[in-house]
Amino acid sequence: MDKLAWVLLPLMLAVGAAGVWALRRRMPSRLALNVWSSVLLMAYVLTTAGLGIFWVANQHLPVFDWHYLFGYATVLLLVVHLAFNFRVVWRHFSPHRLAAAAPPGAAPAGATTPRRHAVGALGVLGAVVAGGGAFWLGVRQGRTEIHVPPGPAAGATAGGQAMAVVEQFHEFSAHSRAGVFRRAAGTQWAAQPPPFKAYPGALQVVLPSAGSLRSARADAPGMPLDIDLVARVLWCSAGVNQVSAGIHFRTAPSSGALFATELYLCARRVAGLAPGWWHYDGRAHRLNRVAGLKSTEPGAAAELVATAIFARSGHKYRDRTYRYVLGDLGHLLENARATAAALGSGLVPQRLFDESVLARELGLDEAQEGVLARLWFDEAAAGAAAAAVADAPPATTALRLPSAQPGPWAAPALAQASQTQVLGVTDAVHLATSLRAGDGPPTPPAPVPAAAVSPPALQLPPPSPVVLPAEVQALIARRRSVRRFSDQALPLATLGTVLHHMAQGHPPLFSDAVRLDLVTHAVQGLPSTAWRYDAARHALLRRRDDTLARQAAHRAALDQDVIGDAAVVFVLSMARAALAHDAGGPARGYRHAFIESGLVGERLYLAAVALGLGVCAVGAFYDDEAARLVAVDPAREWVVHLAALGVPS
Ligand SMILES: Cc1cc2nc3c(=O)[nH]c(=O)nc-3n(C[C@H](O)[C@H](O)[C@H](O)COP(=O)(O)O)c2cc1C
Repeated sequence: MDKLAWVLLPLMLAVGAAGVWALRRRMPSRLALNVWSSVLLMAYVLTTAGLGIFWVANQHLPVFDWHYLFGYATVLLLVVHLAFNFRVVWRHFSPHRLAAAAPPGAAPAGATTPRRHAVGALGVLGAVVAGGGAFWLGVRQGRTEIHVPPGPAAGATAGGQAMAVVEQFHEFSAHSRAGVFRRAAGTQWAAQPPPFKAYPGALQVVLPSAGSLRSARADAPGMPLDIDLVARVLWCSAGVNQVSAGIHFRTAPSSGALFATELYLCARRVAGLAPGWWHYDGRAHRLNRVAGLKSTEPGAAAELVATAIFARSGHKYRDRTYRYVLGDLGHLLENARATAAALGSGLVPQRLFDESVLARELGLDEAQEGVLARLWFDEAAAGAAAAAVADAPPATTALRLPSAQPGPWAAPALAQASQTQVLGVTDAVHLATSLRAGDGPPTPPAPVPAAAVSPPALQLPPPSPVVLPAEVQALIARRRSVRRFSDQALPLATLGTVLHHMAQGHPPLFSDAVRLDLVTHAVQGLPSTAWRYDAARHALLRRRDDTLARQAAHRAALDQDVIGDAAVVFVLSMARAALAHDAGGPARGYRHAFIESGLVGERLYLAAVALGLGVCAVGAFYDDEAARLVAVDPAREWVVHLAALGVPS
């Protein structure tokens, strides 16, 4: 609101000055008002254009607000300006004037007067209908909100009902060119929450600064977790590594730089840190104590719980919010995983947990802040993990952890979502992908089908190690999104190394449903077309022949130049059938696959930093066009994430 006040200040001053003149009975002439409104209009147009050019050049798109607020003020002034000049404009286009200019023998000017009025009336009616229509289209809040039935349909399981909600959500949150006219956002998001959570009066622990920590822990395999280690993992996940234009940029990327993720640490046996639940404040790099531990609680020495404050992202991304917060989280968790692995520990996701129990424990209002993921630190992971290159798969099988998943698990009662629905589809899909400790037997996950015989492939050159454990923290500290690329082509071997690193989470941490396609715009020795990466064979499978792939990718990504200018565009999809392999059911599988796509996306970022290349994640795209781009059938796979890679200019 204060932003709006600043934007409107010159206008308010002008209105105030006119008021003072009027009070002194010295009304400014119509001409004077006209001149002043024109000067103001010119100033607003220049400011709007200047801000747009400046921020685009600066690549700080999140602070675009100023630009469009000034844009609205400009429209307001334009209306005032046109009102003042209406007579001039009217006379210019009037049939009378046109008749005067008509050739001899045409009907006399006076004869056109009734028609002139009719045309005028039609014009005014047209303006009212167009304006009213546009307003109506814009405010159909929630009219087409997804409907969550009070219970599963006859014959359907609660898990099946949850997946039906997920499918509706995915379709509902898809972008398409026509979609904007079909429906408006389903939720009116309230004021944007602050970027950092505060715990006034809470006990605080300032963490050892990331820079001062020891650089490698490979020499200390199996040592207990200590405060240094968790401090590093937290900083590499959600620490601030740059402050610019008033925004606290973090070590992990976040859609729109809105940083909806919050991290909580449960310390049970962390040397140097009192047991309890702690909240990580990335701005101050400190922990706020949230709650004590229940004495009987079993569990790992330490665990990480990630939540999202939906409104931070929802304010901008509305019904697509859940996709963005999961994508953001995946990027952040890959930083956490890579850092912990490099330090000789490990982070293992606990895929099945009851969100409501954790929310109660942390005192969270679930309607605003949803629990999304839970990971355990492995206190005695093999030190070999740190010595090996980070390209090796995470040591998920070697971890020794107490059992945490008593289960059995059930989908929550979804009818709750339609009753509360504070955040519309975001509430509904979050609940649908949640689990509750239930009474019934767990639904057995669907068996993983045998791999189909693959078509002939283009073998890629052998990959080189790229993100070395000793460098992980430095790479994360330097990571930034890059949106300007030169037209330099990438060597094929570099692409092979990047792809191998992206797919190195095999077996995947959260989900095996993610598929990796790419469009090669500028890669030495490759045509500009779409491919699927076959990680098992380290090979590319051609998806389609398309000489206009670059233009198609650019258009599919809402005309974002970062995609049009990239050397390679990665397109990540989730295989819908594979969601059923998830032990928590397909709806939970949807959440996990989204997070997994983020992990893959962050591996791309880190590989790019190591290779001196630039990357930008892209979550804004037309779903249908992105699927066509890589010949994905939406009935079988959903495109969930794009990323651009190139040589920075
Ligand atoms: C899931 C996700 C989606 C994103 N989508 C876009 C996008 O559509 N366009 C864009 O320019 N940047 C996009 N970004 C990049 C963010 O704008 C960027 O991470 C943020 O501004 C912070 O800057 P940094 O990455 O340099 O720290 C996305 C990032 C993430 C994690």
